[in-house]
Amino acid sequence: MRVAEIRSKFLEFFRENGHEVVPSGPVVPHEDPTLLFANAGMNQFKSVFTGEEKRDCPRAASAQKCIRAGGKHNDLENVGYTARHLTFFEMLGNFSFGDYFKKEACLLAWKLVTDDLGLDTERLWISVFEEDDEARDIWRDEVGVSADRIVGFGEKDNFWSMGDVGPCGPCSEIYFDRGEENACGPDCVLGVCDCDRWLEIWNLVFMQYEQQPDGSRKALPSPSIDTGMGLERITMILQGKDTVFETDLLAGIIDQVAVVTGAKQTSGVEGTPHRVIADHLRTLCFAIADGAFPSNEDRGYVLRRILRRASRYGYKLGMEKPFIYKLVPYLVGEMGDAYPELRSHQDLIVKLIQSEEKQFLSTLRTGITRFDDEVSKLEGEGSTFPADAAFFLHDSCGFPIDLTEQMGREVGIEVDRSGFEKLMDEQRTRSRAGSKSTEAVPVSKREFDRVASDLPPTVFEGYSALECEGELLALQVGSETGKLQVVLDRTPFYAESGGQVGDSGSIEGDGFRLAVDDCQRSGGGVFFHDVTVQEGDLESIRKGAGVHSVVDGIRRSEIIRNHTATHLLHAALRQVVGEHVLQKGSRVAPDRLRFDVSHYEKIDRQQLLEIEGIVQDWVLRDVEVLTHPDTPIAEAKAMGAMALFGEKYGDRVRVVEIPEFSLELCGGVHCQRTGEIGPFIIVSEGSVSSGVRRIEALTGTGSAERTRADEDLVHHLSQFLKVAREDVRDRIESLVEENRNLRSGKGRVEQTDYLAQLDGGHGERWTAGDAEVVTAAWESATVDDLLEVADALKRRAGVRAFILATSADDGVRFVIGTSGEVPRGVVHCGEVAKQGAGILGGGGGGKPEMAQAGGKEVEKLPEALEAMAKTLQESFSAVDQG
Ligand code: SER
Repeated sequence: MRVAEIRSKFLEFFRENGHEVVPSGPVVPHEDPTLLFANAGMNQFKSVFTGEEKRDCPRAASAQKCIRAGGKHNDLENVGYTARHLTFFEMLGNFSFGDYFKKEACLLAWKLVTDDLGLDTERLWISVFEEDDEARDIWRDEVGVSADRIVGFGEKDNFWSMGDVGPCGPCSEIYFDRGEENACGPDCVLGVCDCDRWLEIWNLVFMQYEQQPDGSRKALPSPSIDTGMGLERITMILQGKDTVFETDLLAGIIDQVAVVTGAKQTSGVEGTPHRVIADHLRTLCFAIADGAFPSNEDRGYVLRRILRRASRYGYKLGMEKPFIYKLVPYLVGEMGDAYPELRSHQDLIVKLIQSEEKQFLSTLRTGITRFDDEVSKLEGEGSTFPADAAFFLHDSCGFPIDLTEQMGREVGIEVDRSGFEKLMDEQRTRSRAGSKSTEAVPVSKREFDRVASDLPPTVFEGYSALECEGELLALQVGSETGKLQVVLDRTPFYAESGGQVGDSGSIEGDGFRLAVDDCQRSGGGVFFHDVTVQEGDLESIRKGAGVHSVVDGIRRSEIIRNHTATHLLHAALRQVVGEHVLQKGSRVAPDRLRFDVSHYEKIDRQQLLEIEGIVQDWVLRDVEVLTHPDTPIAEAKAMGAMALFGEKYGDRVRVVEIPEFSLELCGGVHCQRTGEIGPFIIVSEGSVSSGVRRIEALTGTGSAERTRADEDLVHHLSQFLKVAREDVRDRIESLVEENRNLRSGKGRVEQTDYLAQLDGGHGERWTAGDAEVVTAAWESATVDDLLEVADALKRRAGVRAFILATSADDGVRFVIGTSGEVPRGVVHCGEVAKQGAGILGGGGGGKPEMAQAGGKEVEKLPEALEAMAKTLQESFSAVDQG
């Protein structure tokens, strides 16, 4: 039986036994912040078990895509080394929601494995939770398993929970004994050793409780069943294979790995790279198809680590160029029928994996060389890999710490993990300190929550009114004179949330007048108004005072125009760029809107114009914006409302609808009709972090002012250049060209200028022992200019190395060199240039003492300069220390 038949057979068996066959839930549980990835078939039924959601049929069965590579269930380290672990696998499961319980679950499972799948009963063992006599009796008396093959284990093995919170209960497992020939030794006993002889194939969970955040357990409304059988494991048994990697599907992928890499698959540890790559490929493809991208945070970072592990194993097989992406079409061909999302996202998956591989390969070799150098300095097995080297590998070469640890394990050394964490903490502190001066200090939510815990949630009147009467319930004196925070029983002021900034305006009472500067809210929904006292004192501004609150209506209109425009922008982005585009954050202020989305490459000018056009079209249609307050969450989802991933929503939500175009869960305030938004202009698009793009746009008066300013500029230019406005562009282009020609004729003069600029403080200096590494970038220089400056710097005392760059709209070139005094072999400029080019999405190289390179991603230039300067610093400090 091939894997696809086994999957169907399982589902068919339960369909015949009254179960509704349900498709897999997404492997990326965007709506469940407690989970990194789907780790079990029961995830999608979590709220059915807890009673929050009802299903028509109380029995279900599914084949669920699972990833266990982080969080409570994590098999990453084992993959490739055992016969049975995978980070991605399919879990076959049957579920009862308050319908049948233990006895029927055990009978059904036994019938399927013995009668329908034909497993030899002599090979099957059962484990039960040691306190669960009922389960033990059922297996022995009702099912007929011999008592000596039923073993009891403690909580660690036989009490299953989804995560730190969520449904849980005692469980019972069916094991397959792979025979004495697979025993790890004479004392190989089920439950005592963790070897591959005892293959757990099916786990039956008797769901009875819900784990609470405080550690306690609450009873579920009714006892339920959740079972999970690893499809790859049961296939391994039915196909008579020794590992899951030899079953039809995975073996096919492994053959492809061999074809693409040109390296034959071998058994034992030597075969680990093929197995890891095959497993990691599946994890990456399924996760990306469900909307998770490699990045530096949360699940994105898990994916990045997985990709980098696979890449490093590929490197072991001699792959110095991206290759994993080439395996995608095969996987899609094999699994695309069962999981069509793979097929519809194939292009995206290929592009994303290829670009991630490229990025990592640009530093992989440097990292591996550095790792090997460090290891050669150590005293062999059992020694400790130094924290600073692990930090360098992480920071400059993108080696996740678990990758360095894995490489360490392969040569029998351990990484100084605590020293590494300390260096990471120091770096975080440095970057926090660096960002403080530019960002306003946020009001502490914890402080709010403490003060707010005794107060009732504030009634928000501001959806329909800009002013209202109320009572002052509490006040706190602020740190600056004249500043207070006040809490009212009801308010028209919107408190910052969901990206929309807080309102401003005024609060008046008997004998006082307060200007409201901002409004924030506690977790429990108490609104804090940040106010400046304009009239009155603490005698009059007191608890119990009656107040009249008025929101600054003009500012509010500006905010809500941007908010409604954000919804239009979101929908238009999905139309133009693709359904994979997910909202990663937003800021809706009076002067502009900012919208962050997950996307793996630049959203180009053409796409931006198209998006702008669609939004403007919806503005001009002037359609009514509908709000559906107090909608049950299940109903909102059924309507197809988009939720912000990772956000926790209550049972009842507010849905904002722009009919036939956009539907989102949103607590914000909106225009009544789209026409109020006015002109909509996108003013910038750029990268915030890897895989996240930021769009900024203007509406209403903001865009009108911008248009006016642009008009003035064009008017001024046309006057100044004495040409018609349509000819301004051509004229400027020809002037720039002329200027370039003139300059290239007198290179020496220009060279002096660039050098003078450097001497005048242009660029950056990075200390390297008692001398410096100099980096500088210009927009107008030619490569010849840079080379002339380089010539001068090579002879300068005090300069050990330099990187000089010139950038234009379409790309960056740079020259990197060491001073004449640096001995050969200390740094290899060609290698460092490759590192920089990798970041810039380009290429280049050269000699140890001088190299040139470049790339297209102009906005990454500062990052590339910094990374290269750091590599140079590290190399010099390594020689300085001997
Ligand atoms: N939730 C249980 C498990 O993952 C059974 O499905 O093992």
